[in-house]
Amino acid sequence: MSVHNPSRDAISMAADHLRNGRLVAFPTETVYGLGGDATNAEAVAKIFAAKSRPRFNPLIIHVPDLIAAKQFGDFGASAEALAQNFWPGALALVVPLQQKSEIADLVTAGLDTIAIRVPDHPIAQQLLHAVGRPLAAPSANRSGAVSPTRADHVAADLCDEVAMILDGGATPFGIESTVVSAIGNDVMLLRPGAVSRQDIEVLDDIQLSQPRNPDSKVRSPGQLQSHYAPQAHVRLNATSAEPGEALLAFGPNVPVHHGAMLNLSPTGDIVEAAAGLFSALRELDQTGVATIAVMEVPKDGLGEAINDRLNRAAAPRS
Ligand code: TXA
Ligand code: MG
Repeated sequence: MSVHNPSRDAISMAADHLRNGRLVAFPTETVYGLGGDATNAEAVAKIFAAKSRPRFNPLIIHVPDLIAAKQFGDFGASAEALAQNFWPGALALVVPLQQKSEIADLVTAGLDTIAIRVPDHPIAQQLLHAVGRPLAAPSANRSGAVSPTRADHVAADLCDEVAMILDGGATPFGIESTVVSAIGNDVMLLRPGAVSRQDIEVLDDIQLSQPRNPDSKVRSPGQLQSHYAPQAHVRLNATSAEPGEALLAFGPNVPVHHGAMLNLSPTGDIVEAAAGLFSALRELDQTGVATIAVMEVPKDGLGEAINDRLNRAAAPRS
């Protein structure tokens, strides 16, 4: 495995690896992706193996633009409107799978729908153009662990599994894309993420269906209860931290704490908090504490995605 600055040579080397069925980690505007050729079943199998990911969890494919996306998915009026408004960007759309697409079955885990995203990151875009094939790319971490927002996070988790890491520095959003299914007129938020619910709901033609009730069939199989979890236990809505705990703070009013502490945003900026969330969890985890106490983070805008990830990090581990 080697880590490369994204020079033109490095991108064409990465494209060669991908065309030969090897895996390459690359930055997107959300988190680093563990990329493999989505038309090559063996490459896709390597992704599942590298992440130790449960087989039933389907992957997002990444393409350079909407025209490419239409080779693989059927875009109805709602999906088209969402793509026009948010692509390139941090929105993954689940649409019906094109019947004769060349996508490996493992990508969709046997579903008749496919999640597609057009990333808005220059390195991801250059790579997609250079490869000329759709890339299946989950976040480049072991399944269930905290998503990587820097190249060294990827190297720590997957150094033996990837042929190459393209280092684009810290990812701007730091939290995964929003997953929305748009099948016919039924538009549903499956995973809160870097595009907020409010951003979507301002569109005139788009009506988000009510969030599914927790007992209903899981529509986005990646939404496992325990996910994004550090080694340490996570205690939510902390107003102070006990001795021996680490404190993950938010905002200007921080309780006195003598142990390890990081503040997601001393000014209370939710975007800054999202960008630093996963690296803060990793950093506090590396201090070896048994518990990370997390202060309350507001739930509006990107706060919905942050709270979703924090709830999963705190969920009982199976
Ligand atoms: O920001 C991101 O989306 C990152 C970067 C690398 O693009 N990728 C990412 O992929 O987070 P992954 O594989 O970790 O998450 C894919 C999510 C999972 O929640 C999965 O269940 C859902 O998308 N998904 C994929 N295909 C689906 C489908 N056909 N129907 C419903 N949900 C689907
Ligand atoms: Mg992930």
